[in-house]
Amino acid sequence: MARRSQKFEMSTKTEMDQKQRLRQVTEKVIGLPSLPTVVTQLINLVGDPATSARDISQLISADQALTAKILKVANSAFYGFPRKIATVQLAIVVLGFETVKNLGLSVAVLKRFQAGKAHPLFDRQQFWEHAIGCGVAARMLAHKRSKKLEPEAFVAGILHDIGKLILIEYFPDEFGEALELAHEELLTISEAEMKVIGVTHAEIGGWLAEKWNLPETLVQAITHHHDPMAMEDPNEILMITHAANALTRHNHVGQAGDSLGASLSPEASAMFKAGRDISDEDLLAELSEGLEVELEKARVFNDLEAELFESRGSDDDDEGEPVGA
Ligand SMILES: [Fe+2]
Repeated sequence: MARRSQKFEMSTKTEMDQKQRLRQVTEKVIGLPSLPTVVTQLINLVGDPATSARDISQLISADQALTAKILKVANSAFYGFPRKIATVQLAIVVLGFETVKNLGLSVAVLKRFQAGKAHPLFDRQQFWEHAIGCGVAARMLAHKRSKKLEPEAFVAGILHDIGKLILIEYFPDEFGEALELAHEELLTISEAEMKVIGVTHAEIGGWLAEKWNLPETLVQAITHHHDPMAMEDPNEILMITHAANALTRHNHVGQAGDSLGASLSPEASAMFKAGRDISDEDLLAELSEGLEVELEKARVFNDLEAELFESRGSDDDDEGEPVGA
């Protein structure tokens, strides 16, 4: 034990080293490939008020792999539509532009990050359980606030820890060291990342979201999911993502990289208590109601992830242009 602590002390980077490391991380993130072109176009089309359902269905239908995945998910219990959705056009009419866009984005991200190294303290399957679980919890919490927020809350939950996948892929040794430090000294993974790398997965995920030109609400939700009050005026998606993360931790859905429990900021807690005098523990229990059922309905995403993992490297989908190229 003493030997390990000494090892971490010796490996703690000096300030100069940390700055160099930060720059290196930034450069790597900037060099990451962008989203598949079809998903970027999809995001742009949905953002344009002049876009019709026909424009979107034409774009998606041209990509057979994406079409198949969207229809599979659209027909799942997660969306609960009573009849079969056989075409993208119908999916758009039934589910709405925003949901289809965020489905495309979720599928692209699940596919993008199938590679990467392994670490005994980082189980990829557990990671996705946590990420998808957080998406499901975020959709549930959004439902309590405004149904309109559901699609974006879902995708924010799925993406919130994406920085960890960048770290395990590009900085496996440092991230491994951070995981071990968190484990041994009972730190949060973010605290351990700051000590070892000098930057957290949340910030790195936010950089990626910026590079991908995702909406500012998503960039904020990813960057500040651990510290929403770092924003002067945190948007609702950010508050929901933060609370959903606490809810998945509280219910032990998947594994997030450290063994610590839920941590809900006083502001997020107040937002969901809505003036009621109840404890955080009771609030988390109340918000957890129905989560099991929703997680079961969302199985289709875990199946999709497993399917993509098995077929990794064998797909020749359009991977988009490298960022900055
Ligand atoms: Fe996180």
